[in-house]
Amino acid sequence: MSDDALSNLLHEERRFPPPADLAANANVTAETYAEADADFEGFWAKQAERISWGTKPTQVLDWSNPPFAKWFADGTLNITYNCLDRHVEAGNGDRVAYHFEGEPGDTRAITYAELLAEVSKAANALTELGVKSGDRVAIYMPMILETVVAMLACARIGAVHTVVFGGFSADALADRILDCGVEVVITADGGNRRGAPSALKPAVDQALERCPDVHTVLVVKRTGQETAMADGRDKWWDDVVGQASDQHTPENFPAEHPLYVMYTSGSTGKPKGILHTVGGYLVGVTYTTWATFDLKDDDVYWTAADIGWVTGHSYIVYGPLANGATSVMYEGTPDTPHQGRWWEIIQKYKVSILYCAPTAIRTFMKWGAEIPAKYDLSSLRILGSVGEPINPEAFVWYRTHIGLDQTPVVDTWWQTETGMHMISPMPGVSETKPGAAMRAIPGVVVDVVNDEGHPVENGQGGYLVVSKPWPAMLRTLWGDDQRYVDTYWSRFKGLYFAGDGAKKDDDGDIWLLGRVDDVMNVSGHRMSTTEIESALVSHPRVAEAAVVGASDPTTGQAIVAFVILRSDDVDADEGADIVKTLRNHVRTEIGPIASPRQIMVVEELPKTRSGKIMRRLLRDIAENRELGDVTTLQDSSVMNLIKDNLATSSGED
Ligand code: WT7
Repeated sequence: MSDDALSNLLHEERRFPPPADLAANANVTAETYAEADADFEGFWAKQAERISWGTKPTQVLDWSNPPFAKWFADGTLNITYNCLDRHVEAGNGDRVAYHFEGEPGDTRAITYAELLAEVSKAANALTELGVKSGDRVAIYMPMILETVVAMLACARIGAVHTVVFGGFSADALADRILDCGVEVVITADGGNRRGAPSALKPAVDQALERCPDVHTVLVVKRTGQETAMADGRDKWWDDVVGQASDQHTPENFPAEHPLYVMYTSGSTGKPKGILHTVGGYLVGVTYTTWATFDLKDDDVYWTAADIGWVTGHSYIVYGPLANGATSVMYEGTPDTPHQGRWWEIIQKYKVSILYCAPTAIRTFMKWGAEIPAKYDLSSLRILGSVGEPINPEAFVWYRTHIGLDQTPVVDTWWQTETGMHMISPMPGVSETKPGAAMRAIPGVVVDVVNDEGHPVENGQGGYLVVSKPWPAMLRTLWGDDQRYVDTYWSRFKGLYFAGDGAKKDDDGDIWLLGRVDDVMNVSGHRMSTTEIESALVSHPRVAEAAVVGASDPTTGQAIVAFVILRSDDVDADEGADIVKTLRNHVRTEIGPIASPRQIMVVEELPKTRSGKIMRRLLRDIAENRELGDVTTLQDSSVMNLIKDNLATSSGED
């Protein structure tokens, strides 16, 4: 076996330089990188000036007790003063903070002044209910403006929010409430999904059977559906918040005061409560929203993700608001009432920056390019991608059909743990390569290392690490410092271990290769799922692919691929031919070593609720095992669909 911790298989020659006019006026330039390289702490001290402090910090990073970092430790601030009051005081109260678009078609534009008033009322109401600084509040809501108000109201009074994605079950909600010591829950009767009201409150009621410490549930009326209210415990949001004063004086908190806990599933065991704190986090997301998206005053910005994920926290709520941006927020699914809904929204609000996940992009590829072609997408100037490696073909499709061959695509690598973008092209500087996240952003230092923790050479693969602390980094896991140390800081001395495989190409640019748990070992070659999936997706008939390693008597593991075909030009009768064609395609793109033992054509893939493919379940199928835990699966019928599918059309030849 070679020295490479992970083989470097794919080669990609396409290049996209930044548009000249964008480069000429870009927020970030080559000098920004030079500045950050020359003086790390000085660079971050300067970024800290983007926000308004009660007491200005004199310290930048305190790393005297690694891996427990403090940033700007002697500074104080109110994070919502930064997101709201200061814009109103600067005369921008009439600027729209969000254009809300409900799934049924209802709309509401809320200005910064209006949002400040709503948040002030909610902050007063929470205080009235006994919520104090440091208390935890769970938020289990649909994608509506009150979700933002609820988060900001907590943050304004120093309470810690833990937002639980509305698609999670009662059990998942209860686990998080218990782990976090929550006493107040904010929820809604329901939200609108796929053309119908979808209830939320019953899941709260069920969860609270296990959570005796929760004394108050605030319920926002969104859908108007029948909702049971427990006497004494449950209160309508409108009754409580509606009565409260819209004047509220923000108090300043120390920079290391907790802001939120966001749970993310670990590979084993109970979910990890990622803790973020107010000062460093706000500096990190304010700077990256400005830098990565080249955000300007007249932009209309849309992060098409759910607020229940970190993407929503950092790039729907805190980053855009701290920058005084105008955002779009959409409640529903992309195919309701038709498959052009996103493009209709972009046309309507003249969205100029769109940020979404590869899983969405590949779904749009599957639906066909003729759908976005019906809408005016010429307002777009920057496209972003997040959540998974973006296959080169999906990148090019996104740029061509959504970006009309003009817009840079920024592939942003980061995690719930990192809080902010870490590796990404800068739209006015980087000559992008489809599929590459490129380089660490100015102010962040990453590397790719081998098993011993030594940096790999260009052209080789290994493990992604972060070499220096960064302001929005997680501070610990809620209630479990030891697990924080073990999970992230024990594998390689002094380095943050992200859990992702990556490679450096010949220019030293970084390509993400998937989670290291998913790496396959075929005849002693360690190969990433991502590269073989990308080779499959580069065939014009393939919309989506998932690759896993299944045990094999000869090669140790063998490659098994699951593919979804595109709906444009389907030839239903090609049967086994498509399998042969795709296998040959992978051989030509990568080489015989990467040729899948089996290719199975399926209609759906098992995904988590945030859109990541659950390769673990596909491994079970590939190895003919009983299915493992499916509780975090977005749609559990998918697994039956795949199995039925395979019974009729085995991909083996
Ligand atoms: C994991 C973190 C970041 C917010 C949403 C997901 C994968 C994320 C990329 C990217 C390749 C990516 C990694 C990472 N990931 N962005 N641009 N290229 N992989 O947050 O749920 O905490 O997941 O998502 O595997 O470790 P998360």
